[in-house]
Amino acid sequence: MDARPNSPEARDIRYHLHGYTNARKHQESGPLIIEKGDGIYVEDVAGNRYIEAMAGLWSVAVGFSEKRLVDAAARQMSKLPYYHDFGSKSHSPLVDLAEKLVQMAPVPMSKAYFTNSGSEANDTAMKMIWYRSNALGQPARKKIISRKRGYHGVTIASASLTGLPNNHLSFDLPIANVLHTSAPHYWRDAEPGESEEQFSSRLADDLETLILAEGPETIAAFFGEPIMGAGGVIVPPAGYWAKVQAVLSKYDILLVADEVICGFGRTGEMFGSQTFGIKPDIMVLSKQISSSYLPISALLINEKMFEPIADESDRIGTFGHGFTGGGHPVAAAVALENLKLIEERDLVGNARTVGAHMQARLRKLTSHPLVGEVRGVGLIAAVELVADQTSKAPWGKPGALGGLVNGFLQQNGVISRNMSDAIAFCPPLIITETQVDTLIDAFERSLAAAMPQVRPLD
Ligand SMILES: Cc1ncc(COP(=O)(O)O)c(C=O)c1O
Repeated sequence: MDARPNSPEARDIRYHLHGYTNARKHQESGPLIIEKGDGIYVEDVAGNRYIEAMAGLWSVAVGFSEKRLVDAAARQMSKLPYYHDFGSKSHSPLVDLAEKLVQMAPVPMSKAYFTNSGSEANDTAMKMIWYRSNALGQPARKKIISRKRGYHGVTIASASLTGLPNNHLSFDLPIANVLHTSAPHYWRDAEPGESEEQFSSRLADDLETLILAEGPETIAAFFGEPIMGAGGVIVPPAGYWAKVQAVLSKYDILLVADEVICGFGRTGEMFGSQTFGIKPDIMVLSKQISSSYLPISALLINEKMFEPIADESDRIGTFGHGFTGGGHPVAAAVALENLKLIEERDLVGNARTVGAHMQARLRKLTSHPLVGEVRGVGLIAAVELVADQTSKAPWGKPGALGGLVNGFLQQNGVISRNMSDAIAFCPPLIITETQVDTLIDAFERSLAAAMPQVRPLD
């Protein structure tokens, strides 16, 4: 770290509280300051270049230097830099984007609603679900089920949906009416000899038991990511989504697909819902919708949602919800151009083919003594690290080995992220096979660098 008192690093320590950072440690170690981007690469202030193997935060589909998005923003900025959708106002980018998203949806959807982040979108989904229950004269139907390890954001409601301890501890969360069922983590949680289908049946039974214990007439909705991202890239085992959806339909419970990571090509289909045969009532979209060049998120809701909401807004006089920046014209214009690029360049196809190469190369690492499991679909994957493959035991505290290898990765020119001991790979959708090879070569070197510390006698 540059320790000069007026260096950007020192000023960052002095003035900036970071998200998802140990604030005390940060005072010692300081920031990594990223200065510019180029394709799948970013460069820090010292001129070091890194492959951005997380696409920022699972989000920069088209890479870090896409001029067409810059031009789309500039054009819209000079034409109409701001407008909103309150009180029946609209603007062209928003009309175009709403139409585009509803048409892209893999199941019949009725309307798009615009927000600024994944958290806001999930919060909004929860409010819409409560509003609908009241509209239908079912005021007791307010409970929401999400999953342990699920990630849905950090606002009070969406952090409650999130099933990770660090999002609840000392925040006095989760709030009432949010319940968490088991994560579909086959490698970690299956009983000895249990097949994927049997494990999925057991989880669906657990879900039904929870619904019956709470009273089915009190359960409004189930929220789930097609693949869990921040919870460790948990790919659902065979049969999981079919069995869960059978339980939900039995009790007339709404399904919300949080497509914030999976949406727009990540899994090798346009939406994760297609990859796993999910038929949601609400889809939550963000991140790759604009490649995160500007903040924008959206909900797609079906007729089952829209009709009662419309009636209730008529009864009350307005749908009393909306964000000043929701559906911002510049962000909407960038999103439209970004979706055009994803289609023109067939980045979904690229996620499928280059993704297959990435998955195959990573799976070759399963025999490495520090690798417990390799999992993933398309251009999203995780390698779960262990000190011992048989017992699946961690090296010291959970997360220590993940942190060690992630540190070596950075030294080897790759920015990734360890969720505890799972190292995630979620590169921009424009990545090539050769670049995947460079990335995984660096990962192999990082595993080799960790070996003498973890297994000194091997
Ligand atoms: C699946 C999922 N949902 C919601 C969110 C929250 O999005 P945001 O950080 O934009 O609030 C995230 C963020 O990573 C996510 O991965």
